[in-house]
Amino acid sequence: MEDKTILITGANDGIGRATAERLAEYGAHLVLACRDEVKAQHTAQAITKKTGNHRIDTLPLDLSDFSSIRAAADEFLAEHPKLDVLINNAGVYTDKLELTKEGYELQFGVNYLGHFLLTMALMPAIRCCRHCSRVINVSSAQHVKGGLDFGSLRGEKGSKDYNGSKAYAQSKLANVLFTMELDRRFGEELTTNCLHPGVVGTRLANKKAGTLTRTVWSMYKPFATPPHEGADTSVYLAQSPEVQDVSGRYFDENQCLRKPSSIARNEHLARRLWEFSEKAVSDYLPREQY
Ligand SMILES: NC(=O)c1ccc[n+]([C@@H]2O[C@H](COP(=O)([O-])OP(=O)(O)OC[C@H]3O[C@@H](n4cnc5c(N)ncnc54)[C@H](OP(=O)(O)O)[C@@H]3O)[C@@H](O)[C@H]2O)c1
Repeated sequence: MEDKTILITGANDGIGRATAERLAEYGAHLVLACRDEVKAQHTAQAITKKTGNHRIDTLPLDLSDFSSIRAAADEFLAEHPKLDVLINNAGVYTDKLELTKEGYELQFGVNYLGHFLLTMALMPAIRCCRHCSRVINVSSAQHVKGGLDFGSLRGEKGSKDYNGSKAYAQSKLANVLFTMELDRRFGEELTTNCLHPGVVGTRLANKKAGTLTRTVWSMYKPFATPPHEGADTSVYLAQSPEVQDVSGRYFDENQCLRKPSSIARNEHLARRLWEFSEKAVSDYLPREQY
């Protein structure tokens, strides 16, 4: 992997950090795209110390802010003609309605829409040669519990009726729909797959979740998969020759192919989400740029 450049979002904690560590061991050039620049730099230093890989850069990226995403993509493109692997890993879970800078429901905005903008803005470095680049979207088995309510994506339903786990499932469904549609539109040029990493003992549900969710999660966490194992499928999809030409598929925590939910396989819904997303980000990414 010495000749590969890999960008990982949310690489300073949990599964993303473990994925970065594991890929650093293969000698890849890593770009840790994180919202907390200081934390990202500490992570890069720690990974270098542990693996001996000195080719670890950081890139400021706040997925809840379109201008930060655009700036991150521009900074990357200015320095790198090619991106071999993009791992859209960052994620947030919250039980309280919050909005992104542009007014999208936070989980939909960060877990999906921000990654849509990032991916499409990075296209000039991804679409370099046939199947040279891989786009990996970290989804979740929770996507099966999700529907896509286009009337809720800007928090229109209000705080009182907000259901955090439903909104999380919706965002993870969007990750799968995006993977399928990206493959339909660009599958001749790149490969893209999504995955469920397992139930992994990270701090995902400790950061913004309500008391009940935190308590349940704290009790469950000791029995969950440790983050370094939770990175298995992301690492497999990033580097294995077995999946060099595999695209538009959903993998589980054991690197096995699984059928995503029937809603996630709905082509009409995937197209509608794509068109919604293109419109949402159009001020930051004109269509002719990808
Ligand atoms: N843990 C599980 O059991 C599980 C199961 C299924 C799927 N997943 C998925 O796995 C992925 C990684 O989650 P995790 O469990 O490793 O959680 P985590 O430890 O909380 O890591 C999430 C990462 O995303 C970053 N992030 C959050 N909001 C961001 C924003 N606005 N801009 C940029 N980065 C942001 C976090 O940054 P900070 O460090 O600054 O907070 C952190 O680095 C997520 O997509 C999640 O949905 C997790």
